[in-house]
Amino acid sequence: MSHHGSARPATASRSPALNGRVRMPGDKSISHRSFMFGGLASGETRITGLLEGEDVMRTGEAMKAMGAAIEKRGNEWIIQGTGNGCLLEPAAPLDFGNAGTGSRLTMGLVGTYDMTTTFIGDASLSKRPMGRVLDPLREMGVQVIDAAPGDRMPLTLRGPRQAAPIAYRVPMASAQVKSAVLLAGLNTPGVTTVIEPVMTRDHTEKMLKGFGASLEVETDRDGVRHIRIEGQGKLSGQVIAVPGDPSSAGFPLVAALIVPGSDIIIENVLMNPTRTGLIATLLEMGASIELVNPRNAGGEDVADLRVRSSELKGVTVPAERAPSMIDEYPVLAVAASFAEGETVMLGLEELRVKESDRLAAVARGLAANGVDCTEGKDTLAVRGVPGGKNLGGGTVTTHLDHRIAMSFLVMGLAAEKPVTVDDQTMIATSFPEFMGLMTGLGGKIGEAD
Ligand code: S3P
Repeated sequence: MSHHGSARPATASRSPALNGRVRMPGDKSISHRSFMFGGLASGETRITGLLEGEDVMRTGEAMKAMGAAIEKRGNEWIIQGTGNGCLLEPAAPLDFGNAGTGSRLTMGLVGTYDMTTTFIGDASLSKRPMGRVLDPLREMGVQVIDAAPGDRMPLTLRGPRQAAPIAYRVPMASAQVKSAVLLAGLNTPGVTTVIEPVMTRDHTEKMLKGFGASLEVETDRDGVRHIRIEGQGKLSGQVIAVPGDPSSAGFPLVAALIVPGSDIIIENVLMNPTRTGLIATLLEMGASIELVNPRNAGGEDVADLRVRSSELKGVTVPAERAPSMIDEYPVLAVAASFAEGETVMLGLEELRVKESDRLAAVARGLAANGVDCTEGKDTLAVRGVPGGKNLGGGTVTTHLDHRIAMSFLVMGLAAEKPVTVDDQTMIATSFPEFMGLMTGLGGKIGEAD
């Protein structure tokens, strides 16, 4: 299965030491939100460093379909927003392709509007659960007038004349659910409250405040966050410099650690603490990662990373760390495949509902390439082979999942035998520069024969 109907396999082979500097493209989460909030705010928003991946472009198209004007001039994206509360009913279904963040956040954004909106997506997105967003929206008065079985896409929302504010405790660690409720609150009179027992990425809160929303966060004695947003206020256009994506940085980072002799610099990496779990884990494993030139850019911490190949050791990754590295487990599993001893990853239940069932996809990919691993209900244990002897030689089924494709191509750079992925096309959803950037460092990756 691939998008556009034609799968393009790719193969990575054992490579000489990786060297050089690479600059990370814009963070996907912040890029989606830049288009959304810019499209909603009054006046002009100017964005530099935006990730121009397929997922983010879908969000841009959706905002255009609801009245925002978006264009690119030179390096800058320039948006004229509609004003809060002023989105228009789209004339056609909004097609989100592979994008979970784009679709779920937009459901929140438009659900409380007195209009009808239909959401469609690709085969991967159509399998993903949307009930986690629809349930709180229903409490606010939104009707789901049509949905595929199990609250899946394609689905159609019909908003109430006036939505009701709620206090909603997010039942799973999900920034998408938190964000959808907050965005629904933007078009709702009164105060909408999200109670977040486990902190997840906080880009929505930070950015909405930056756009002028009346939003406050209070953390109680138990560490539970209470996020309150006052609806129907004014949002004003902003100037945004999107920092580089730490999730994308995970791929060259792990590649440099496992390919012997490597020494690279990864520039412009977002260091927001809700996103740095992979770096923390790799440091515990003995990785040589140096933060160079730490700085603040547009309200976020950013740094360059110097990464040198390292002898890694297995560790236990606690469940509490999962929210800050939720998208990085596939590439961590690859690092663990080259570590001495066992790496045990706990609290992985959310991996089952990503672009693919990532827990199963990773375990199968590892097994296909000779890695000894055990998949539990919400755990993964990987027993590594330092030096990668006898590893590789398999073909990995990517299930329309960009991160599965990139992770296993990274594995092929250090395994004894080449690693093939059945489809590279989905990489364009989040990291279109991946192939060029990795080959630029000296990685041997190309079309499979
Ligand atoms: C995201 C939240 C996470 C993450 C996704 C991006 C976001 O999803 O996996 O890639 O931008 O809010 P969940 O909310 O499902 O954990």
